[in-house]
Amino acid sequence: MPKPKNEFHYLSLQLMEVKLQDLEDFRKEVASFSPQTTDELEAFRIRFLGSKGLVKSLFTAMRNVPKEEKRIFGKKLNEFKAFAEKSYEEAREQLSETEKEEEGFADLTLPAEEQPLGSLHPIHIIRKEIIHIFEKIGFSIAEGPEMEDDWHNFTALNLPSDHPARDMQDTFYLSKNPDTVLRTHTSSVQVRVMEQGHLPIRIICPGRVYRNETISARAHCFFHQVEGLYIDDRVSFADLKQTLYFFVREMFGGDTGIRFRPSYFPFTEPSAEMDISCLICGGKGCTVCKHTGWVEILGCGMVHPNVLENCHIDSEEYTGFAFGMGIERIAMLKYQINDLRLFSENDIRFLKQFTGAG
Ligand code: PHE
Repeated sequence: MPKPKNEFHYLSLQLMEVKLQDLEDFRKEVASFSPQTTDELEAFRIRFLGSKGLVKSLFTAMRNVPKEEKRIFGKKLNEFKAFAEKSYEEAREQLSETEKEEEGFADLTLPAEEQPLGSLHPIHIIRKEIIHIFEKIGFSIAEGPEMEDDWHNFTALNLPSDHPARDMQDTFYLSKNPDTVLRTHTSSVQVRVMEQGHLPIRIICPGRVYRNETISARAHCFFHQVEGLYIDDRVSFADLKQTLYFFVREMFGGDTGIRFRPSYFPFTEPSAEMDISCLICGGKGCTVCKHTGWVEILGCGMVHPNVLENCHIDSEEYTGFAFGMGIERIAMLKYQINDLRLFSENDIRFLKQFTGAG
């Protein structure tokens, strides 16, 4: 204890002695502190470091410490404060470490957390189904570019530049190069395969196609097709019919009605469109089949000799058939969907309803 100046000073020095002794006791208490719960940790904080805690009240008590001794006491108090704060921080870290470890400990009795499963897009499911059906009868898959040149999309398919039938397909031209279009059908892939010249050819061409249409429930500026091509010697219209009958039976079931109507495509001669009995109303008549009982599902025909010649295939020796269908149309009939836009809006409530073998 420093030398007292007078009686009063002596008393206050004694008081300081007591306070210092207290401080030492608190220090011990802090040193032995090891909270097991966050409640204990919080209780410690309130007792020592809270706004009404010990550190605060000791600083307030400094007022009564004689001026000369303030320095000693203040220093001790600051040390104590730093010590309490450090201990608190360490205890807090220690506690959260333990909590983390406990979280990491797997409790095998808990019920499993549900993992949301994604689902396949209906277009993908139907595409797979179509491919699978044609694979069974020996067709293989061919793919080609979505950005196509005029030759493969039109000219080779018997659609020279002045041909009026070009208007049948509202084409997106790529402005930088007027010779380049977004393919309007996957017939362009068939041309590419024919040009390779490996005969016979038995392929299907699934893919996305583009047409400059106003988007509505029945039309879209892009959709998906599967087109097919079979070229060999003596391929006939009977082969075409049998192949498509097989497809309809597999896809929609044996009871489905089928009819062919004469039609026109520049790349096939003769050409036809195929209808199936309406699956929505069972042929009785509804808005989907426009009260006819029939819905069109594809275009087809015998490959035009000009197309074969354009691709350097001898049209005297070889014949072939081709067909093309929209995947969306098939999916709409199969799943009874009445709006084409649903396929590309990515509404999860719509998408998660479909299940099928991927
Ligand atoms: N390419 C035609 C279309 O996109 C479909 C078709 C393919 C028609 C092959 C006949 C033969 O509409």
